[in-house]
This record gives sequence, C-alpha cells and structure tokens, in this order.
Amino acid sequence: TPPPVITIDGPAGVGKSTISRKVAARLGFTYLDTGAMYRAAALFIDRLGIDSEDETALQHALATVSIELLPAPDEFSDVEVVLNGEKVGALIRSPAMSMRASQLSALPAVRSRLTALQQEWGKRGALVAEGRDTGTVVFPRASYKFYLDASPEIRARRRALQLHAKGEEVDEKKLLEMTIARDRQDMERPIAPLVRATDALLIDTSDKTIDDVLLVILRVVESGL
Ligand code: C5P
Repeated sequence: TPPPVITIDGPAGVGKSTISRKVAARLGFTYLDTGAMYRAAALFIDRLGIDSEDETALQHALATVSIELLPAPDEFSDVEVVLNGEKVGALIRSPAMSMRASQLSALPAVRSRLTALQQEWGKRGALVAEGRDTGTVVFPRASYKFYLDASPEIRARRRALQLHAKGEEVDEKKLLEMTIARDRQDMERPIAPLVRATDALLIDTSDKTIDDVLLVILRVVESGL
C-alpha cells in the first residue's frame, strides 16, 4: 500500500501553510507545499520569457525544470524553494508573484507537469499536501482530506494584522480585492479548479485559531491512523 497522504486545500490566506506544517511536524510526515511549486514555475516561465499561449514551448521548458523544496527552518517560515539549483526565497512570495502563479497555474502544461512531480512525492513517504487541488486531483485517494474556509474579509483582515505586526504598511482594502480576484481565478479555471472534494471535511476557520484547527485535524487523523 502507498504511504498515507493528508490533503489540506482551501482559498488564499486561510492558514493552510501554517496548519499543514504543524500537522506534518506532529505526525512526522513530510510537508508538501504545492503552491510553492506553482510560484517557482511561474518565476521560471517569466524568466525565460516563454509565451504562455505556446503550449509546446511550455511543455519543453517544464520537462527539464528542477523544483526542489527544502524543509522550513521553523514552523513560522515558508519552505525554501530551489529552482534549478537556485534558492529563490522571497522572490516567489510577493503579491505580484501570487497573482502571476495563479494565472499561469491555469495552463494545462503547467498543471500536468507539477501534478506529476507532486505525485512522485507521494510515492516516497507519508505526506501532508497543501494547495488547491491536492484532494481532488493530485491525491484523490488520500487517507484524510480537509478543506479550510473563511470569508475573504476575515482572511484579508488576518493577513493585514500579520503584516502590521511585522511593521509593514498595509492597505486592507487592496488586500481584500487581491484575495477575491485570486480566489475567483482559482475557482473558475476549467482544469483542477479550487473546490471542496466531496469527501473532504470542511472546517470553517472564521472563529477558530490556528491551534483550534490543528486540534480538529489531529483528532480526526489520530482516531483513524
Ligand atoms: O498556496 P499559494 O498561495 O502559494 O498558491 C499560489 C497559487 O498557485 C494559487 O493561487 C493557485 O493559483 C496555484 N495553486 C494551484 N494548485 C495548487 C496550489 C497552488 O493552482 N495545488
């Protein structure tokens, strides 16, 4: 039997990464940040200046790209992405790259290549996979599936508070607009759109802390593993 997989999907800024990292740490599973792969692929494509309409050129370029994920140094940090041997760090984490990754992730050539890479990870060991389609497309036979949700207003507010705490200036209205635009793009694309898998447990995080959500997930998983 293949190693166990837990999938955690949901819209932008719902806390998937933080929660997935914690679940993985608690269970001793590997954390797979599929969004980081889409971000790296977007940077790769833009650096090469490939025309996103050119399906063949995209396929060729993506066939040889190397995207590695290094474990996050601590539970507060993102995974480090190594794109063709180069640590790309914060380059792929800007709001502009979030939108760009969302645009390019709708392309069939991008999705098929990254889905295959992600499925390879699933063969190597127990995983907590996080993203938009990990429970629907990448690991449809996952042992446990979760779908986290909260209103765009709540997600933008949380993000604003986070940035504020780091001393960064924030325009919450802008954040809200970007959150809504990215979700719409991810939900309305024809291939692997963001949707709750019918067999995923929906967790409304609106009135929950990170630790509340963590407890719900661990309770479900530990009762059945
Ligand atoms: O999760 P994150 O915000 O890093 O993802 C960036 C973008 O990558 C998303 O907005 C989405 O368009 C894309 N993505 C995807 N499928 C996944 C994970 C991310 O299409 N499984």
